[in-house]
Amino acid sequence: MRVGVLTGGGDCPGLNAVIRAVVLKGIATHGWEIFGFRNGWRGPLTGEGSWLTRDDVEGILTRGGTILGSSRTNPYKEDGGVDAIKRVLAEKGIDALVAIGGEDTLGVAKRLTDDGVKVVGVPKTIDNDLGATDYTFGFDTAVHIATEAIDRLHTTAESHHRALVVEVMGRHAGWIALHSGMAGGASVVLVPERPFSVDQVIEWVERRFEREYAPIIVVAEGAVPEGGAEVLQAGEKDAFGHVRLGGVGTWLADEIATRTGKESRAVVLGHTQRGGTPTAYDRVLATRFGLHAVDAVAEGDAGVMVALRGTDIVRVKLAEATAELKTVPPERYAEAEVFFG
Ligand code: F6P
Repeated sequence: MRVGVLTGGGDCPGLNAVIRAVVLKGIATHGWEIFGFRNGWRGPLTGEGSWLTRDDVEGILTRGGTILGSSRTNPYKEDGGVDAIKRVLAEKGIDALVAIGGEDTLGVAKRLTDDGVKVVGVPKTIDNDLGATDYTFGFDTAVHIATEAIDRLHTTAESHHRALVVEVMGRHAGWIALHSGMAGGASVVLVPERPFSVDQVIEWVERRFEREYAPIIVVAEGAVPEGGAEVLQAGEKDAFGHVRLGGVGTWLADEIATRTGKESRAVVLGHTQRGGTPTAYDRVLATRFGLHAVDAVAEGDAGVMVALRGTDIVRVKLAEATAELKTVPPERYAEAEVFFG
């Protein structure tokens, strides 16, 4: 049997661990030939990629990024895209695909399955906002990186009696902010799910200063002030037309400085949260996802995604996997709120 593998969307620590597991189990247990498509869905569209051997995946378990490259190409936005993919797969004799990605990549995987291509999905995103799985790999690593940054910022903030605003990733969901803020003992955590009152943030910050501690405010990039979303819209698109969501951290630091008279600084962690070595937890989760994706392909299953439920890896329909975004529920935010101010 011949199987293709690809990684799509934003990169994420643990992608290489999935690729390694698919290649090693595919070859050792089933004697498959595995084709590594380059750059997300662009690979199956153009045929770009190579057959992977055990040597190709040697030493990649601990490496961040993806040896296959990634892109946000969507074959449904290309003229004749689906036919091109079917042609490439037929030419190479590839029977099934393992697609590792987030909402967009898995959405394409679902549509391709409906159009007759066999695809098994593997969920990834540092944002942990895919509804059908308890956790995605990459999230634990991102939380560790953000927490370490917060730990370091406490000491410099205290030395200078400053407020420090840390902007973390999280476009639609505040999981990274919530977990790193709780782990790092933040004075305030702001998430996209709950528009924040600037007055309330100032009150928390001042209360913290009164107790002679320097406040650390963790804000997700997608968080917005109550009724003030337009404040953050200026210059929102970059030169390539990409929507730029960051900016809330810098804006908030300025607001705190103006309204409290205390020095404030903003630190935008950005893509540092997506780079580098995955944590042991993410390596294990990614490896297990890869192994179970191979099982799904071997059993002739398609249109499914592997997912974590409790400690078990299960299969869910791709339709279910992409249906709902998992956001921070009010009760989880309330747990963090106990420590504000
Ligand atoms: O979806 C993961 C994510 O890291 C988001 O948190 C963030 O908004 C986005 O990717 C950034 O994407 P890009 O790499 O295209 O700037």
